[in-house]
Amino acid sequence: MPFNRPSIEGAELTYLRQAVEGGHSSAKGPFARRVAELLREHIGASDVLLTTSCTAALELAGMLLDLQPGDTVIVPSFTFVTTALAFAREGARLVFADIEPETLGLDPSHVAELLDDRVRAVVPVHYAGIGCQMDELLRVVEGYDRVSLIEDNAHGLFGSYRGKPLGAFGRFSTLSFHETKNFVCGEGGALVLNHGGDVERAHVLFDKGTNRRAFLNGQVDKYTWTDTGSSFGMADLLAAYLLGQLEARDTILAKRRAVFERYRSNLEPHAGADFEIMRVPQGRGPAYHMFYVLLPDRELRDRALRGLNQEGILATFHYVPLHAAPKAQAFMATPTACPVTEAISGRLLRLPFFNGIEADVIDRVCDTFLGCTRA
Ligand SMILES: Cc1ncc(COP(=O)(O)O)c(C=O)c1O
Repeated sequence: MPFNRPSIEGAELTYLRQAVEGGHSSAKGPFARRVAELLREHIGASDVLLTTSCTAALELAGMLLDLQPGDTVIVPSFTFVTTALAFAREGARLVFADIEPETLGLDPSHVAELLDDRVRAVVPVHYAGIGCQMDELLRVVEGYDRVSLIEDNAHGLFGSYRGKPLGAFGRFSTLSFHETKNFVCGEGGALVLNHGGDVERAHVLFDKGTNRRAFLNGQVDKYTWTDTGSSFGMADLLAAYLLGQLEARDTILAKRRAVFERYRSNLEPHAGADFEIMRVPQGRGPAYHMFYVLLPDRELRDRALRGLNQEGILATFHYVPLHAAPKAQAFMATPTACPVTEAISGRLLRLPFFNGIEADVIDRVCDTFLGCTRA
């Protein structure tokens, strides 16, 4: 039983063929425009740029901050490496913040302690597609005019917080379409621009530091190198595949919701001293990215992982605390304590989760897991 298995859910292959035959297979093609418009409309954004990955989108956001020596960025320690690395490589010193235990999102009270005049960005991750405590995070950054909120929404597309789409809160938000995510195209991502004032410059950086867009819009008579930038754009072949996935979003979300609910209804009656199941607090619309459980400690978690793996079930752990990683020292502004991150990292176990996983397979996974927790 694999942990993840991507599946075709709609017109992906038809669109891919059209993209090949249509002649525009590079970035900013007709399919990229349709995907960007679908995402822009859902999030209510000013613009959306399709990138080669979520990492690339985070890097582009980092470039748009124009970081100066001494600037810092607050990131969770409990996240993927590039949530942090994208800003470090743009010159920021990193400040690692802890998560709170309810959603495993950035802890607003720790962020409040860490904020000072050097901070240029705070980067919440909506872990597992469950929104962070956004009201509290917005409140703690209020009054810090130099601080931009950047949502790493790699897990949370189509999730919501108090009725507002995840990804609509920050100045920027980022998405991932990597094969392990809910909507896939192999490798891919997007940068969501929620402030109209960023749109023009974001296109310049996206277009390899040139004013190509102004040229194509007839605003200048030739295009030239005007700023920093890089080659960020998603090939239209991938955007075509992705459009097929996104147009099938109702089907995909319904399937994933059914998987989530089956895990929940199978495991909830047994939760207690042996394990906890993930929580969905009031006011959160889940994106159904994964289902995780928390064992009492690392030893019991590792025993359950081994037990599942021995039965051919690929359950996995997740993030290893970044603040304790070998390279963290080199990028850190100041050491911080992240005890919740350390505890959760050793206790968390993710169960196989993908669109096509059958109900009887979920039942077998749950029975095997329950056996491992009792052994
Ligand atoms: C929270 C988070 N941010 C960013 C990324 C990077 O995404 P990508 O592989 O699209 O660069 C990941 C990848 O798993 C992730 O989990």
